[in-house]
Amino acid sequence: MGSFATRFAGDSCCARGTPVKTTAIAHANIALVKYWGKRAGTAPELNLPAVGSLSITLGGLSTETTAELAPDLAEDDFCMLDAAGEPLPPDPRMVRRVRAFLDLVRDRAGGGSRLRVVSRNDFPTGAGLASSASGFAALALAGTRALGADLPPGELSSLARCGSGSAARSVFGGFVELERGTAEDGHDCVARPLAAPDHWPLRVVVAVTTEQHKAIGSTAGMQRTAETSPFFAAWVESHPADLAAARDAIAARDFDRLAAVTELSCLSMHGLMLSARPGLVYWNAATVELIHSVRAWRAAGVPCCFTIDAGPQVKVVCEASVADEVRARLTEVPGVLRTIESGLGQEARSV
Ligand code: PMV
Repeated sequence: MGSFATRFAGDSCCARGTPVKTTAIAHANIALVKYWGKRAGTAPELNLPAVGSLSITLGGLSTETTAELAPDLAEDDFCMLDAAGEPLPPDPRMVRRVRAFLDLVRDRAGGGSRLRVVSRNDFPTGAGLASSASGFAALALAGTRALGADLPPGELSSLARCGSGSAARSVFGGFVELERGTAEDGHDCVARPLAAPDHWPLRVVVAVTTEQHKAIGSTAGMQRTAETSPFFAAWVESHPADLAAARDAIAARDFDRLAAVTELSCLSMHGLMLSARPGLVYWNAATVELIHSVRAWRAAGVPCCFTIDAGPQVKVVCEASVADEVRARLTEVPGVLRTIESGLGQEARSV
């Protein structure tokens, strides 16, 4: 935590009793049933997904964000810290995105001054490790609280969704589903918790295959896919069945069924990405090697399965009893640089 904790821990209050500075923590999540593509014909700032999704929240990958009222500023100030608490060079695209999001935060909070925001991830940013999910969930919570608003979790989730679709899910802990919804204004596109972390304490071991940032971000990638893939309609149509299969497998704690639908959804999404024009290839050689390895281990009786997002890292979901073995096996696969392990985590909260 180092300098971050020393500089920013603790909330403070102005004379009216309104919080002026709040620190919030949210965890990353990974989708077992994936979302890819926005809903056609809806307002871009609502960021409405074309399909629902289902995820697990990862307690071991966190963003900690402090938002403080700064009436002296002409524009919101945003600074990212690295895992050691040292400031990272500003990324103008990210600063623009955060400022646009903070305008929405002020709208939902009923107005308020500019904010000074400091955010720190305890894991690498932008390499397919869902940093936008935990980042926008933590920012939605810290920002609204600093402005004196206490939104119910459903509203917080819908606000976080406007920053990044997957962030809607990081507002909750354990197993989480984001409903697609049908309303034009998006009010029914909200995440909800399906089961607490202790319902089924799965573990996730991330095999890091590169430390590079991804070439094409999810927003641009989704747009290209929805506009050009001949398979996009089939992806949307097949989604409810995948969500139902995952819900059932989770309720029954049936690992084989969960593995089947998790890998199906992941490979369908990447098939869709490959069919865009030009095709989106997020994998590297180690990603492919890992797919084959994980399948062979499961066939040999190790309860593990893979999932991959818009990047080359492979996230291996497994029963807790085999997590050590899975981690040891992953480090032996050629091209794996290191692993990050996590259990399931709790909802976003202010600290
Ligand atoms: O929330 P975004 O815009 O970062 O998109 C997330 C897309 C995937 O990670 C590939 C899938 C998902 O449902 O999280």
